Amino acid sequence: MPETGKVYLVGAGPGDPGLITLRGAEVLGRADTVIMDRLAHPRLLHHAPSDVELIYAGKSSRRHTIGQEDITALIVDRARAGRVVVRLKGGDPFVFGRGGEEAEALAAEGIDFEIVPGVSSAIAAPAFAGIPVTSRFTAASFAVVTGHEAPGKSRGDVRWDRLATAVDTIVCLMGVENLPWIVSELLDNGRDAGTPVAVIEWGTHPRQRTVTGTLADIVDICRNAHIGAPAVTVVGEVVRLRQTISWFETRPLFGRRTIVTRAADQAGELSSLLL
Ligand SMILES: C[S@@+](CC[C@H](N)C(=O)[O-])C[C@H]1O[C@@H](n2cnc3c(N)ncnc32)[C@H](O)[C@@H]1O
Repeated sequence: MPETGKVYLVGAGPGDPGLITLRGAEVLGRADTVIMDRLAHPRLLHHAPSDVELIYAGKSSRRHTIGQEDITALIVDRARAGRVVVRLKGGDPFVFGRGGEEAEALAAEGIDFEIVPGVSSAIAAPAFAGIPVTSRFTAASFAVVTGHEAPGKSRGDVRWDRLATAVDTIVCLMGVENLPWIVSELLDNGRDAGTPVAVIEWGTHPRQRTVTGTLADIVDICRNAHIGAPAVTVVGEVVRLRQTISWFETRPLFGRRTIVTRAADQAGELSSLLL
């Protein structure tokens, strides 16, 4: 029987491959197996050994490539075979990432594991849109909630009735498809229709797009702009700060395609100068 291996549940960060932690890159470097989420950037595999076993466990809201139970079984199986397993998850593994469920399964199986936190899209996508989730002047609190619940639930997981006016900034993940319902929950529960809202699609990626409006008009604005997942919605006065501190989308070459006629390893320095 081989000695049991070790599992690292690693946050890949929100998309930009530079936003993984040093610890995350370090443990990728000694992985035998990487089990990777859809939202983890493929370039992060440059940190892993060239002969690493790669398993793609990409999930989108409609299409589950491998079910959660099968993913957990795979992690356990590879660890039992004595391998170093990196489970690479978008953003932070414990923010709507099912990292808790995977850690529970590992604990139950007696398998050694470590959690490597990551930069969550809940704060990074707003930051790349020029929106701080708190502000000393307008926002002393923020909440991160799921927008993925089934509309019409009589008592949903998110208590919109309590939340709507309880915190200054509300950050909603997985909420694009349900945006009309989320907006109506906020309005019905007392949030002002003039409250600023931003929706950030593919935050931190070169293809990032941000639309802004208010609770009164953001649904139409998103529909007209064909905003889709993955996107983060930010509700609160902090959205106004984008007018002065938007920095990523205002870069001179943002959104332009740059063709660098060099080998990838030579091009890195030049690319960073251009960006
Ligand atoms: C299953 S949750 C995982 C969240 C992840 N653990 C985190 O901390 O960012 C997936 C949701 O995160 C949000 N998300 C993740 N990456 C994003 C990105 N680059 N831009 C915008 N939203 C993103 C979207 O709301 C997406 O539907």
